[in-house]
Amino acid sequence: MKKLIVANFKMNQNLNEAKQYFTKFVANFKGERANVIFCPPFVSLSLANYFLQGTPIKLGAQNVNEEEAGAYTGEISANMLKSVGAEYVIIGHSERRNKFKESDKLINKKIKTSLKNGLKCILCVGESAIDKNSGKTSEIIRKQLEEDLKGLYENELESVIIAYEPIWAIGTGNNASVKDVEMVAKIIRKVIYENFSEKASRDIQLLYGGSLNEKNYQALLGSNGIDGGLFGGVSLKVDSFLNIANSVR
Ligand code: PGA
Repeated sequence: MKKLIVANFKMNQNLNEAKQYFTKFVANFKGERANVIFCPPFVSLSLANYFLQGTPIKLGAQNVNEEEAGAYTGEISANMLKSVGAEYVIIGHSERRNKFKESDKLINKKIKTSLKNGLKCILCVGESAIDKNSGKTSEIIRKQLEEDLKGLYENELESVIIAYEPIWAIGTGNNASVKDVEMVAKIIRKVIYENFSEKASRDIQLLYGGSLNEKNYQALLGSNGIDGGLFGGVSLKVDSFLNIANSVR
């Protein structure tokens, strides 16, 4: 099975930089080892779509509003994202949970609106350093998953990917260990089993994210129960990310 490699550019890259990046990536991506999804900022989605059309590379957004349309100045709807070629959206990233105070209830609504509009969701879950050190990882992950996925039908889970992103590992250079990742992958699959089914727990795609780099990605993405990775910082360096996407096993 090919690994799933997702790039989250966060609030980086202007249109010109995006143009240079995608020109180079598309020309050099071999596509034999990985399925790739790029999540650039909203303003680059159309341009990225232009470059990615006709390639196997997919496009995603980093956020979406929970409402369908209306008087929400500055917000972007799921339907708008679809219309510029996005097939995926990242929901529940810890930066949105913490810096923008997004609750599990809001995340649940965003997931439902996205699925209704035909967008696939990359749901991020993960514990803080304090939670980890007090042995609460399992409890936190379960709570996030149960609240974020509440009311979803089992067949809708086919359009959901779950990324384990421990907060203490994001942008810190302090990646989780394979042991940590395998333990949490088991917890996630158990929660899906208990709330949905055995099949759903087997089929759901799980990613690891948090300080992935050219040195550690093979080991971490080789963890049992993990289908790919969510890359932040390193995905901005086109040569590094090409190397990862062309060499991942
Ligand atoms: P990082 O970010 O790779 O820069 O740690 C990962 C993420 O936030 O998805």
